[in-house]
Amino acid sequence: MKKVVVLNASPRKNWNTAKMLKEAQKGAEQAGAEVEYIDLVNLNYKGCMSCFACKRKGAITNGLCAYKDELRPILEKILNANAIIIGSPIYYSFPTGMFRNLLERMLFAAGTYLKDEETGWSKRVLKRNIPTGLIYTMNVPENMMAHYNYDTILNTTEWTVKTIFGYAETLNSYDTYQFNDYSKYDCDVFDEKEKAKHRDKQFPKDLEKAFDLGKRLVEIE
Ligand SMILES: Cc1cc2nc3c(=O)[nH]c(=O)nc-3n(C[C@H](O)[C@H](O)[C@H](O)COP(=O)(O)O)c2cc1C
Repeated sequence: MKKVVVLNASPRKNWNTAKMLKEAQKGAEQAGAEVEYIDLVNLNYKGCMSCFACKRKGAITNGLCAYKDELRPILEKILNANAIIIGSPIYYSFPTGMFRNLLERMLFAAGTYLKDEETGWSKRVLKRNIPTGLIYTMNVPENMMAHYNYDTILNTTEWTVKTIFGYAETLNSYDTYQFNDYSKYDCDVFDEKEKAKHRDKQFPKDLEKAFDLGKRLVEIE
């Protein structure tokens, strides 16, 4: 049976990002995969420690980061998966620290500083692709993506994952609804009524896209 690991890099376990990821999980399950869903907020872990254990001559890491903390067993699961899906909110223009710390550890150990004469890029460690879905949720509406350079930031992230893991796709959910009850918060930069309209009309479509992404990633391999 195919295995998929879903990783939630939002501190909230049941909000926008989690909802998208849970739909992606359902899609992957419908395609016949066994899915493990992980809330990264439960884990105590760091980003890359720059120890370079994975770059030492003769190091046989097979892409697994050497640093031992609560993320390491998860990185091992990722390397054994047929596909992975990572979700993150956008915080100050970037995916969360939890997401960044995961990616640093996941990608650096699976990359090399050895030149691939054929491509001119770094040689790959992984013997097969691990199709990766990247799901982001954010406050800004779609038409402000380029204005805030989010498209560049998220495209660069997708490209980086693609070069090391072989395949990556991005799905964004924009203009998300942020609180249960806007009247309880000091917040007048967002129009609650417009937000609610978007949540009721567009968010269900985003969830469908997440379902399809989960299904598609399993069917790739
Ligand atoms: C600390 C913080 C920073 C944020 N910064 C941004 C931002 O720069 N751009 C944006 O579009 N949304 C920003 N947001 C909004 C979240 O990305 C958005 O509400 C997201 O859907 C939250 O995901 P969640 O529901 O899974 O927690 C920020 C939220 C928080 C808590």
